[in-house]
Amino acid sequence: MKLRLFFTALLLAVITCPLARAEGGGTPLEKEMKTMNKAFRQLKKQVADASQNASSLELVAQMEKAATASTDLIPEKAADLPEKDRAAFTADYKAKMQDFSAVLAKLEVALKAGDNAGAAKLLTDLNNLQRANHKEFRKPQD
Ligand code: HEM
Repeated sequence: MKLRLFFTALLLAVITCPLARAEGGGTPLEKEMKTMNKAFRQLKKQVADASQNASSLELVAQMEKAATASTDLIPEKAADLPEKDRAAFTADYKAKMQDFSAVLAKLEVALKAGDNAGAAKLLTDLNNLQRANHKEFRKPQD
């Protein structure tokens, strides 16, 4: 009977452990990226619509916050590099994240000025930066 209790407990632990880990939600950088992703997807839908500029500015603020937080985090890929390359990789990542933030600041200016066409164009730039930077700084997808 005691043995059965033990196995039940063991089974429970085996089942819930990966669940708990999945819920933990990955690295701190992945968490910021998820926030960024959610705001960016919504922004793509509404950026051209001037009647939604207040809400769009709120989404840009969320992205700026996530980008700023991301600047001081270190991509997982850094750990896979030879020690001698790590500092340069991290510095490059940081600089590119700051470039990205600079484009977000331009987007904020455009939306505040009611320049929705300009804002839409900046979203294309952000999209391209996302792609290029993921290629450079993300671990090869598993
Ligand atoms: C519109 C802009 C961006 C969006 C929507 C975005 C979205 C995402 C998403 C959805 C992930 C996967 C998160 C997960 O695994 O749960 C991710 C990961 C990642 N992104 Fe971005 N991203 C953006 C811009 C950037 C920029 C500008 C950089 C670097 C300068 C960057 C670097 C990374 C890295 C390094 C990872 C892997 C996470 C890690 O190593 O811990 N991303 N991003």
